[in-house]
Amino acid sequence: MKNPKRHLITSALPYANGPLHLGHIAGAYLPADIYVRYLKLKGEDVAFICGSDEHGVPITLRARKEGVSPQDIVDTYHEMIKKAFAEFGIAFDIYHRTSDSLHHETASDFFKTMYEKGEFIEREEDQFFDEQEQQFLADRYIVGTCPKCEYEEAYGDQCEKCGTSLSPKELINPKSKLSGNVPVLKTTKHWYLDLEKYQNEWLEKWIDGHKKDWKSNVYGQCKSWLNSGLQARAVTRDLDWGVPVPLEGADRKVLYVWFDAPIGYISATKAWAQQNGKDWKDYWQSEDSRLIHFIGKDNIVFHCLIFPAMLKAHGDYILPENVPANEFLNLEGDKLSTSRNWAVWIHEYLLDFPDKQDVLRYTICANSPEQKDNDFTWKDFQTRNNSELVAIFGNFVNRTLVLTQKYYEGKVPARGELTNFDKKTLTEISVIKGNLEKSIENFRFREAVKIAMDLARLGNKYLADTEPWKVIKTDEERVKTIMNISIQITAALSIIMEPFLPFTTEKLRNFLNIEKLSWDLAGKSDLIDAGHIINKPELLFDKIEDEEIEKQIQKLMDSKKANEAENVKVEPAKNNISYDDFVKMDIRTGIILEAEQVPKTDKLIKLKIDTGIDHRTVVSGIAVDHKPEDIIGKQVSVLVNLEPRKIRGIESQGMILMAEDASGKLYFVIPEEKISSGSVIK
Ligand code: 2FM
Ligand code: ZN
Repeated sequence: MKNPKRHLITSALPYANGPLHLGHIAGAYLPADIYVRYLKLKGEDVAFICGSDEHGVPITLRARKEGVSPQDIVDTYHEMIKKAFAEFGIAFDIYHRTSDSLHHETASDFFKTMYEKGEFIEREEDQFFDEQEQQFLADRYIVGTCPKCEYEEAYGDQCEKCGTSLSPKELINPKSKLSGNVPVLKTTKHWYLDLEKYQNEWLEKWIDGHKKDWKSNVYGQCKSWLNSGLQARAVTRDLDWGVPVPLEGADRKVLYVWFDAPIGYISATKAWAQQNGKDWKDYWQSEDSRLIHFIGKDNIVFHCLIFPAMLKAHGDYILPENVPANEFLNLEGDKLSTSRNWAVWIHEYLLDFPDKQDVLRYTICANSPEQKDNDFTWKDFQTRNNSELVAIFGNFVNRTLVLTQKYYEGKVPARGELTNFDKKTLTEISVIKGNLEKSIENFRFREAVKIAMDLARLGNKYLADTEPWKVIKTDEERVKTIMNISIQITAALSIIMEPFLPFTTEKLRNFLNIEKLSWDLAGKSDLIDAGHIINKPELLFDKIEDEEIEKQIQKLMDSKKANEAENVKVEPAKNNISYDDFVKMDIRTGIILEAEQVPKTDKLIKLKIDTGIDHRTVVSGIAVDHKPEDIIGKQVSVLVNLEPRKIRGIESQGMILMAEDASGKLYFVIPEEKISSGSVIK
């Protein structure tokens, strides 16, 4: 780190259209909070900025669905999210919101300055328009069939099934999400950011300059965008919800949510500065400030390319020094999903585990998806608590404080002469502190939390090696030294753990009866004077029992089931047939005698079936769900008078009946008990 005067740290503004979950916290919030707490402990001047992102189509769509106004939606979720952050110890200096008038003014002015400087390209283009609603349709307001994978509910900007980026005109059979009608094309005017020009002039060079100091996942994603060539992007939309475009003749047009949202960082800083007697420009417009954006990987292009392009085009602003984006955190092996309710919701966690914020903070940090996606499991959560927080950190602190009470009634003893082992242990504290600084300053938080835990390990080892509980019987003076050193380690822990476990360190400071100490003291060996009185300790952490974990896993399973039930799409009924048509089919029970995979196929199995009438060959596409060796001897239902046909060169003499569920899995359709082969099914 250079020597900046100020740090402006931002976390991505969450959309105010749903509650916070684990994935949000792991991506942009916990790492930022750890980083900011560290800087503040070092006495640095920091503004930690966040707020709700309250514009954009997902919010208007949700409002429509619930029959309320967009403002109602954002009011509800803004409060909910703000509360969850505060209770979880994500300690922003301000949590602002983009529906605030200060933000509207700031975003509007930003646009006007760029407009006056001639930074936008004006374009007229045909866009989809819903005639019934008299409204142009933003990308997310249009659904249709994906041209790549034929998924029928693809959005105008992206197919969520195959991930392809789309434009509305590429959709097959486009439909308006508002009225369900087929939209028409109508001409509309928009303002575009000339990213191609910026790429050529400076943006690519600027990104290249960060090859070494930015995380490889971030740099790599930027390069891949640049290699495909940036194109002009519209920064306005035809919509009624958002910051109105501040130009004549731009009725019912607003700034694109990704234009106004990052400006939200600026307006939030203004609001904070007003409330705290600061000058916001010191943070945004002064070269001795550094700007760091914490985000999730889906926001990289906006924070590394588009927002910097806006800042530079405007002209008055500094650019981000770093953008430490995280990959995604999965849950129990599956992608987190709001719509599928596959998530650990922070507000629910806080109800189920009050006073255990730090356990989740610790588990998320220890599994932080820094280089690649990572998994959260409840079992791991339990192990992290029981085997690390309780057994290592809690155990060391408890032994130290309990022995200090027992031997000296809480009065910290003076130490005598130090052994080499004592000296080595004390030196080790400052080595750990130094390593920790390197990790945090390089945004390697999972490494950092492990190093922090090494200090508790050091304490445990010190006690295990010096055995004060034995030595007390023979050498009381020596024990005074041992306990004094153990108390110093405990005090160092109260500093070093603070960025990761702020609730625990507050508790620890109460046990130790001390005020918050600054970071640089953590390397010192005399944090607490002899004679200082400590308080009676309680346990720092409690064990988490199996039942609590099983309850959480059950909750997830229940939501998976509920979701599956909701999503079952039943195929429409076919046209009626006559009874005569039906009886033409000759369906019999049979037994599988032999089964082997058809070579070079994934799905096909060649079966030999005893139909009661004969033994015959049937080729069946069931290999994805059934292994040949598992189905020999199984009863099946066979359509025996289906005309034989060749499948992969094998003559198939009939067809076995299978039921297919919503996920495409195949099940045998068979009588409820085994009956003799050749029985008629009718
Ligand atoms: O992806 C999201 O959740 C966006 N609301 C993030 C916005 S970050 C910033 F630009 F405001
Ligand atoms: Zn698709």
